[in-house]
Amino acid sequence: PPVRLGDYLPPDWLVDTVHLDVRLHPTASRIVATLAMRPNPAGREGSPIVLDGDELSLKSLTLDGEPLDGTAYVVTPAALTLLAPPQRALTLEIETVVDPSANTKLMGLYRSSSTYCTQCEAEGFRRITFFPDRPDVLAVYTTRIEAERAEAPVLLGNGNPVESGAVEGTSRHYAVWHDPWPKPCYLFALVGGKLDRITEEFVTATGKRVELGIYVELGKTERAGYAMDALKRSMRWDEEVFGCEYDLDVFNIVAVADFNMGAMENKGLNIFNDKYVLASPQTATDADYANIEAIIAHEYFHNWTGNRITCRDWFQLCLKEGLTVFRDQEFSADARSRPVKRISDVRLLKGHQFPEDAGPLAHPVRPSSYREINNFYTATVYEKGAEVVRMLKTLLGEEGFRAGMDLYLDRHDGDAATVEDFLACFANANGVDLAQFALWYAQSGTPQVTVSGSWDEAARSYRLDIAQTLPPTPGQSEKLPMVIPLAVGLVGPDGQDMTLTPDDGSNAARGVLLITEPRQSFVFRDVPHRPVPSLNRGFSAPVKLSSDMSTADLLFLARHDSDPFNRFDAAQTIALGHLVEATAAARAGTAMPAPDALVAALGATLDDGALDPAFVAQALSIPSETDVAREIGEDVDPDAIHGARTRLRRAVSDALAPALHAAYVRHAPSGAYCPDAASAGRRALRNTCLDLLAAGGTPEGIARAQVHFEAADNMTDRFFALSVLAHAAPQAREAALAAFHERFHEDPLVVDKWLALQAQIAEPQALERVRGLTSHPAFAWSNPNRVRALIGSFAGLNPTQFHRVDGAGHQLVAGAVMDIDGRNPQLAARLLAAFKSWRSLEPVRRASAEAALRRVAEKPDLSPDVTDIVSRSLG
Ligand code: ARG
Ligand code: ZN
Repeated sequence: PPVRLGDYLPPDWLVDTVHLDVRLHPTASRIVATLAMRPNPAGREGSPIVLDGDELSLKSLTLDGEPLDGTAYVVTPAALTLLAPPQRALTLEIETVVDPSANTKLMGLYRSSSTYCTQCEAEGFRRITFFPDRPDVLAVYTTRIEAERAEAPVLLGNGNPVESGAVEGTSRHYAVWHDPWPKPCYLFALVGGKLDRITEEFVTATGKRVELGIYVELGKTERAGYAMDALKRSMRWDEEVFGCEYDLDVFNIVAVADFNMGAMENKGLNIFNDKYVLASPQTATDADYANIEAIIAHEYFHNWTGNRITCRDWFQLCLKEGLTVFRDQEFSADARSRPVKRISDVRLLKGHQFPEDAGPLAHPVRPSSYREINNFYTATVYEKGAEVVRMLKTLLGEEGFRAGMDLYLDRHDGDAATVEDFLACFANANGVDLAQFALWYAQSGTPQVTVSGSWDEAARSYRLDIAQTLPPTPGQSEKLPMVIPLAVGLVGPDGQDMTLTPDDGSNAARGVLLITEPRQSFVFRDVPHRPVPSLNRGFSAPVKLSSDMSTADLLFLARHDSDPFNRFDAAQTIALGHLVEATAAARAGTAMPAPDALVAALGATLDDGALDPAFVAQALSIPSETDVAREIGEDVDPDAIHGARTRLRRAVSDALAPALHAAYVRHAPSGAYCPDAASAGRRALRNTCLDLLAAGGTPEGIARAQVHFEAADNMTDRFFALSVLAHAAPQAREAALAAFHERFHEDPLVVDKWLALQAQIAEPQALERVRGLTSHPAFAWSNPNRVRALIGSFAGLNPTQFHRVDGAGHQLVAGAVMDIDGRNPQLAARLLAAFKSWRSLEPVRRASAEAALRRVAEKPDLSPDVTDIVSRSLG
């Protein structure tokens, strides 16, 4: 049965302290947990003690030091229940044994290339010991870890190191860690292994010294430097921008090769997928560096938003995730180019979250029920959750937002809080009512906002008529109107913003229209010329906007808008409109010429020397096939989209070849590789030019990519050239792929790029290639990064082949999901979610997707994770 938000009850028993004694062993690690418990005054009186477990075997149990009579408790692998415990403070000692080597789910205590590590969020601690595994039970933890010194010379835990030493008369040693900050068990972690480390010291704003350590596989320390740099910058930024200071003597990060997600914010001991720690110019791209910076910051920022203030229950996941994503986005915006960061965040949101909102897996930012919480670590909770926080800031202004955050951090420090608690801080600090705003957490789906503008020449006024609707989503047929902060500008014929004089004196003067009703009109006075409205500037609200704006108006914005996001978006809107029409034409067997005006606008952007190269690279990128599919919305034919997009890219290439070539030459590197934003921006633009030039299919374009590939002195350029060759030059593809593999085959993270690239080739042979690669020595079903690189890229980034009309692509992914499910249900469920837009396909492909989903659904012994995704998908 599903868990429901409305059924929340406080815990009946509290845990004040936890002492864990862990003896690491490859197949039989022994855990003795000593829990100081007491009845919760806010709980139900006389309650039994019910402790969660998952695949656990109990070895011994005592209450206040006395063994318990067999009739006093019931134990299964999934729960330990003390039927009638004395209703007073008591101490339980629980001994369990687990097999880390057999733990292929990568939840609880497991081994990753012989390193012992843990992952407890959301419900993994119950795979280590019996415990009230819920985030509102906060305890102070002391952990003693013991292991063979030769096997695990490094022993790390949460909090501060207390003591360590040899276990007399043995080859074993131990370390004791104490974390003074009460925390829920999902933040527990330990690590044991043979690891190298780099260390640095950080001095906090109030002068406290913190020892920072990053632990990596032996021999990889020189790849950890960028992560360390990002960590120190994150720590300083959080002090300066949010007043959040670090609160322990040490902060450690460990990189492991087998990890289900990106990283985990365990208190004082963050554990990372090594893909988000390790970087060198030779092995990591600029995008990898940016991801590392963002994720290091994200996990660090959780120390306050997530750890010091945690969640009451898992329905509140967005309380920590949406807020922390918002914070890491702001950090990256300050560290790099703010407009370019905003553009890439919105592209991610539209690319991943909008389809989620439009399909059978749609759910609110705060879900109201779930069957498997691990399936709710979604783009909606994370990315839309961050947009909701951003809207709060837009509504309340910089200072009002900071006042709300200050109150939240102060009022709820040490709490397991709710979304209501969070919103109340902003409401109280600003004297506003956020009841309607709270609908952003409760209603799923993407609001559709329709805008039409009219200029009254005689009255010298301009009116915007705005309507909002929210389409029905699973479980929500009726919707209420939302609060939509719509940032707008009126751009005059000279390209300058006009002064906004709202005729009702509302807050529209500062450029934000507050939409609260299904239909609203706003009138501006003193508008002497017909303006072009710039709507939803900076993407101030995560809505789908449609307007009656002409192509000419959009072109005008693409050239003149002072808002860089809308300047980018105007050209994208034109391109998207063309691609939708061209796709329809392609299905009807005709080809539509590329709009000259669009090509001219792209050319003008390319030639505008005043623009940031990173911005130009974004502006020149043609909307993706997924973008077009989303815009079309139903009866989608991926082949027709691919054809239309390929033709547009070719037309841009043909028309702009000289300008693209000039820009390619102009942005040639000067000096050695440096991952900073400015250099990365130049590379992005140069590589975008390389790609568009090759899209023309001319021998010169291909030859240039070949030279670029061979001359590259860094992974960004080398891999970009390789992907150009792989996509655009079948004749050069195999040799280039082989050369790349030869050079990097010992480096799994680079091999992932090689796998992912091959999985994305939009040709019918891709399926056989992917199938073949699953037997390649570099591939391993047990490693989530390998699986996501190969199968995940095929399903998520190769629409024509995943949605092959013969259904073979759907069957390949469904088969992989079924194979993986027995070993790693979380990974399987995530892959299966690639079917989320299946209902929008044209009938033949839709039937094939449905058949694949049904085949999965019928498999016996499916995990709860996959059962949940498949049943909601078919819903
Ligand atoms: N809290 C982590 C983060 O976003 C994600 C961990 C999710 N893990 C999971 N098994 N669902 O930083
Ligand atoms: Zn997070």
